Amino acid sequence: MSDFRQVAAFAAGLYRQRADIAYTGYLRRDPMALLVLRPGRASDAELNRLFKHLFELRRREPRDDIVSRLVAAEGDQITPAEMLPMCSLLLVAGFETTVNLISNAVLALLGHPGQWQALCADPDGLAARAAEEALRWDPPVQRTSRVALEPVELAGKPVRKGQLVVTLIGAANRDPEVYDHPDTFDIMREGGPGHLAFSSGIHYCLGQSLARLEATMALRMLAERMPGLTRAGTVKRRNATTIRGPVRVPVAAGPAPAPAAAAGTPR
Ligand code: HEM
Repeated sequence: MSDFRQVAAFAAGLYRQRADIAYTGYLRRDPMALLVLRPGRASDAELNRLFKHLFELRRREPRDDIVSRLVAAEGDQITPAEMLPMCSLLLVAGFETTVNLISNAVLALLGHPGQWQALCADPDGLAARAAEEALRWDPPVQRTSRVALEPVELAGKPVRKGQLVVTLIGAANRDPEVYDHPDTFDIMREGGPGHLAFSSGIHYCLGQSLARLEATMALRMLAERMPGLTRAGTVKRRNATTIRGPVRVPVAAGPAPAPAAAAGTPR
């Protein structure tokens, strides 16, 4: 099986798995989860139309992007029907999540001016740490879920076959038995990336290294180019329980603050 086929089969499988969960009524009871599956509230049909249009565009005029590479491999390696679920998955898993990581990180940093100042003083050295701490402190994916394939016992509690188990990543990342001062946002935190923001086990996020790279670059460049960034208005958060992040963050790009102004700022 070619690489493309494997990924497409995997993406289709993931969709079926989600559809199964939806069938149990879980998603119907949780419209926020449906929003995650339908970014921007687009219906599946709308998303499919959008992607088909994009496939056409890239067939005519390829660019240096993944859709152009997919359509170039069409035929032996991948069919149009396989490309749709793969692109939808990549849109939700790869885009929505990382956008919210970057905005949650910026919000956290601007809400803790001493830490923003520290990052601006050493963007190269601290951007990756800031991204990692944002992943722990305010993870863009707040929960995952599993359906038990057989009866199991979890933390002393019986789980029936077919029962849904929801894992609260946001809460686990602030476990006081794991982290000192778990509620404190601290980009200098020691101890390595032990958080669950990318889940764990066989479903551990495939795109975690790309997400870490994107967030690190975004924070580094923001700190280098706009050290005077401050919040300038009310933040509006998404009305969702799985994906967490702001819809709107008004900011102002003023002059860089003098180092003394930030010293003593509470974290
Ligand atoms: C900050 C950014 C991201 C976060 C917080 C995140 C989070 C997660 C989480 C929590 C899971 C596991 C879901 C579960 O256990 O059921 C997951 C899986 C996955 N992620 Fe990400 N992700 C991010 C970025 C990306 C990117 C950039 C890509 C691809 C370009 C990606 C692709 C995937 C895929 C394909 C899976 C499914 C893996 C599997 O089920 O085996 N993710 N992600």
